[in-house]
Amino acid sequence: MATTARPFHLVLWGATGFTGRLVAEHLAQSYQGKVKWAIAGRSRDRLESLRLSLSTQYGFDKEDVPILLGDLEDPQSLRAAFSQAKVVISTAGPYLRLGTPVVDAAVHAGTHYVDITGEIPWVTTLVEKYHESAREKGIRLIPCCAYDSVPSDLGALLVAKHAQEKLGKKLASITTVVAEGKGGVSGGTIASGMEIASQSVKTDDGRNVYALTPRSAWGRDAEFWGVKWNEDVHKYLTGFFMQVCNNRVVHRSNYFLSYGDDFRYEETVPAKSWLGAQAIRAGVLGFGLALSQAWLHGLLLRFLPNPGQGPTREAMLGGHFKHIVLAKTQEEDGTAPTTIRAEVGWNHGDPGYWGGSRLVLEAALCLALQSDALDADPQLQRGGLLTPASGLGATLIDRLRAADFFFDIKKEA
Ligand SMILES: NC(=O)c1ccc[n+]([C@@H]2O[C@H](COP(=O)([O-])OP(=O)(O)OC[C@H]3O[C@@H](n4cnc5c(N)ncnc54)[C@H](OP(=O)(O)O)[C@@H]3O)[C@@H](O)[C@H]2O)c1
Repeated sequence: MATTARPFHLVLWGATGFTGRLVAEHLAQSYQGKVKWAIAGRSRDRLESLRLSLSTQYGFDKEDVPILLGDLEDPQSLRAAFSQAKVVISTAGPYLRLGTPVVDAAVHAGTHYVDITGEIPWVTTLVEKYHESAREKGIRLIPCCAYDSVPSDLGALLVAKHAQEKLGKKLASITTVVAEGKGGVSGGTIASGMEIASQSVKTDDGRNVYALTPRSAWGRDAEFWGVKWNEDVHKYLTGFFMQVCNNRVVHRSNYFLSYGDDFRYEETVPAKSWLGAQAIRAGVLGFGLALSQAWLHGLLLRFLPNPGQGPTREAMLGGHFKHIVLAKTQEEDGTAPTTIRAEVGWNHGDPGYWGGSRLVLEAALCLALQSDALDADPQLQRGGLLTPASGLGATLIDRLRAADFFFDIKKEA
């Protein structure tokens, strides 16, 4: 696909939202003058005021960041905007409601696509509608490029590559332990959580870890929501709420990259005691149940952030996260598996917003600036509805390391 002659590297759709603005800030702070980008959305006034505020804050000429308008009801307007860039970043959610016309236009315009969704019921519809056409056209469509699911997906890739390249082994399983996480939540995320929870209770596959994997490749893995002791971290573990997105993405990556046969993946949070783990579990399941009840949404929104709102700057910049990734090798003959331990994280901001907006930006820049490196990696898919690991792989890990994220193999035992 030839996108070399396009005027912009990136177009940022949904720039006026809470997270969209943060992506624009990272661009202005770290890449102004090096990357050509435009902001896009439905309201000229709101885009103009964003551009003015960014150009004042970061000291650039506002005309250097053009405004492109689009309307979800008018496919031509979106195609015209997206055909001017190599990559579209979409931060406009809930995606179940707002996302499909954007992906459709990206496919028609021959433009690579990344977003920050965690809405798996929506991503399943994209696999069906767009995987084949994007694969044929050589367009990489990569949803879930923020905290959902880059650290999880690339953490799994890191240990799987280590097992294959250093030990000559496949993996039987990975347990990701979300050891540290400090941040907040935005109104857009709450709105999306309500959409997903309401949708999941209506569908049969709400708990299927293979929701993004072709049926012929399904194994025996199941979502973990219990409580158990883990000897490697010496803690009780229970299910992490974001595994409902992350484990499906990691399984799609395993489908493309073959980490292991009947490979298992679980994502957990640690607690000091069995009782503490049970309390976390009850809180997560209770909150999920409340989000799934449409009649409760009005009441919840009186206490939770509304669309456009999010954590304070102080809360975001004071945040951080760390995942411990524990992989067990696949052994044929009853030999004890080797455990590979890795750590993935960031110490420069919260995972969901300041961190997540940097993650999606680096994913987009990988596509815009490093297509040769991506095409040279024989393990990567060149088009289709992909995951961060299967579409961007080690090239994205390297870019993120350069932005001070850590991806470290700690030990084998
Ligand atoms: N996975 C993760 O780790 C992660 C992290 C953060 C956010 N998210 C997700 O990102 C999404 C955005 O969150 P947020 O808090 O940034 O949301 P937000 O502040 O409510 O922003 C929503 C954006 O969507 C745009 N939009 C709304 N309706 C539109 C329409 N009909 N046509 C065109 N644009 C429209 C808004 O534009 P206007 O200004 O014109 O209204 C705004 O730019 C949510 O789905 C959230 O779950 C995910």
